[in-house]
Amino acid sequence: MSSSIFHIQDVSWKREQKTILEQINWEVKEGEHWAVLGLNGSGKTTILNMINGYIWPTKGKVSVLGHPFGRVDLRELRKSIGWVSSSLQERLRGSDRAQHVVLSGKYASIGLYDKPEQADYDQAERLMKQLGCGHLIDRLYVTCSQGEKQKLLIARALMAQPKLLILDEACNGLDFLSREALLASIGELAASGESPHMLFVTHHIEEILPVFTHTLLLRRGQVYAQGKTKEVINSELLSDFFETPVHIQWQNDRAWLSVP
Ligand SMILES: Nc1ncnc2c1ncn2[C@@H]1O[C@H](COP(=O)(O)OP(=O)(O)O)[C@@H](O)[C@H]1O
Ligand SMILES: [Mg+2]
Repeated sequence: MSSSIFHIQDVSWKREQKTILEQINWEVKEGEHWAVLGLNGSGKTTILNMINGYIWPTKGKVSVLGHPFGRVDLRELRKSIGWVSSSLQERLRGSDRAQHVVLSGKYASIGLYDKPEQADYDQAERLMKQLGCGHLIDRLYVTCSQGEKQKLLIARALMAQPKLLILDEACNGLDFLSREALLASIGELAASGESPHMLFVTHHIEEILPVFTHTLLLRRGQVYAQGKTKEVINSELLSDFFETPVHIQWQNDRAWLSVP
């Protein structure tokens, strides 16, 4: 049996009498990359907060990288989880050089408190090249485009050599060319063989690259469906999921949605 990256069992989460997550069962195994698809407010970020141990289930069990919550130092565990979201962008200092933003990921901190070693500089440079942003090394972070910033943040998350990399709506706010460039980098990373397991969270179906072998559909805090991406993403199932008729067309192993 392959081992678990994380396992969420019968999990519910309530806030102010409202059930935000309900009866979630979801296991991600070694060797899998997952996409999570759901409309705004469906509970995607809430699940991510739970995987990171920022919130605890009201009911049910969570274990991450083989460690059941309640018996693990969450700060230690979080070092094995990289997280990229647009809210992280706002917390970084714009006056830092791109290379320093990437380097700061080594210590999973926002600023750069310890003195980096040569090997750290080399690793930062290598990761930036891998993500297709090697040329930005001396640029001020604030002067980078939205897409470039997202690439830098992925490189930053990789500095800590995480086992799991979470991309929460990483393509938000990008024009179609920047988005394709970012997706290409993500695809290459996944195919490189030195990639952490990835969780790619989105509400755009066409962003689900073929490397995301599995997909979970989340609706109103509940798992609507999960499984192999090719089996989950189809016109019939998604029309039910969205409660409106949609049409899915596959092109180059990516699914495109249209509303007839
Ligand atoms: N700390 C909280 N307290 C109360 N409600 C919350 C809290 N966090 C999230 N929610 C609510 O839970 C729902 C799901 O939010 P979220 O997980 O951010 O959705 P998504 O990421 O899919 O857009 C929303 O209705 C949101 O308002
Ligand atoms: Mg969200």
